[in-house]
Amino acid sequence: MSEKDVLILGIESSCDETAAAVVKNGREVCSNIIASQIDIHTLYGGVVPELASRHHMEKICQVVEEALSKAGITLKELDAVGVTFGPGLVGPLLVGVSYAKALAYASGLPLVGVNHIEGHICANYIEDPSLEPPFLCLVVSGGHTHLVRVKDYCTFEVLGVTRDDAAGEAFDKVARAIGLGYPGGPKIDAAAKKGNPEAVRFPRAHVDDGEFDFSFSGLKSAVLNYLNGAAMKGEKVVSEDVAASFQAAAVEVLTENAMNAAERFHADRFAIAGGVASNSALRSEFERRCSEKGIHYYHPAGILCTDNAAMIASAAFFHYKRGERSGLDLNAVPDLKLGREKP
Ligand code: KG4
Ligand code: ZN
Repeated sequence: MSEKDVLILGIESSCDETAAAVVKNGREVCSNIIASQIDIHTLYGGVVPELASRHHMEKICQVVEEALSKAGITLKELDAVGVTFGPGLVGPLLVGVSYAKALAYASGLPLVGVNHIEGHICANYIEDPSLEPPFLCLVVSGGHTHLVRVKDYCTFEVLGVTRDDAAGEAFDKVARAIGLGYPGGPKIDAAAKKGNPEAVRFPRAHVDDGEFDFSFSGLKSAVLNYLNGAAMKGEKVVSEDVAASFQAAAVEVLTENAMNAAERFHADRFAIAGGVASNSALRSEFERRCSEKGIHYYHPAGILCTDNAAMIASAAFFHYKRGERSGLDLNAVPDLKLGREKP
């Protein structure tokens, strides 16, 4: 290890994954430990915040210890602790923030609070060490749908957000309605491979007064109305066709908005991030549209798309390098905004 190397321990607990990772120089993953709570929340068809907080408390010590031991690193060798402090569920966030503060205080390590959405964007730096700002990024997850202009490592301009449901939330709700269960995204993705995307023409919503904004609640309602209508008429529903048709509508809106922004800002690089970025239809549509326009397209591996702490350590690194530190008064901010996002 050269003298200038910076080792950061990242901690993530904003939703239903307790995660810790050690990352070198913001891009090289030394360990990436994720304790998923999917089995617990599956019973309820979605994340139960109180249960999530309790399970984070049970797992966090073990997950951090494992991240350090897998990386072969002791606390003394670290340069800083990075932790997600928002946006997310307040109880789960508080577990990670409290743990990170205690660790920083006891070890004397600097603390760096990280915006979870920024973390998702940074997953692309880990995947492709040659990627540098500026570029455009579409962050699509269970809680967020953001079209972002990444101006430099720590400066973001939010071009568009969802006005209602997040993209992943729509995938999860539609999956539940057609009986596929939780978490819905990967199940819709798999079912859609066996269905016809043109079977049902679901609406593609455009927001009139927000050029790059998104809206998914109309699409979700259209699917529910279609299912109810079929049930009332006693018609059989082919769930694979509904999954494929819904996915086609969601992917078209996401890609169309993204490509309009790419044109407007003359982007030559476009990245995707967040849980929904592992969707196979979204990935191939982005690949096709970007190559048509001569845009370099970036996408993290599946394990870096869904919530993880390596992306948090990466984001912390860039703030650490700028001399930014958080105090021990760092608090969880459930509705934390990114850049110049409207409040
Ligand atoms: O980034 P993430 O792990 O958590 C949040 O920050 O929200 O994203 C989780 C979301 C869930 O809504 C899940 O259904 C969705 O990502 N997801 C997918 C796929 N894999 C995960 N959605 C569509 N297709 C997938 N293959
Ligand atoms: Zn996330």
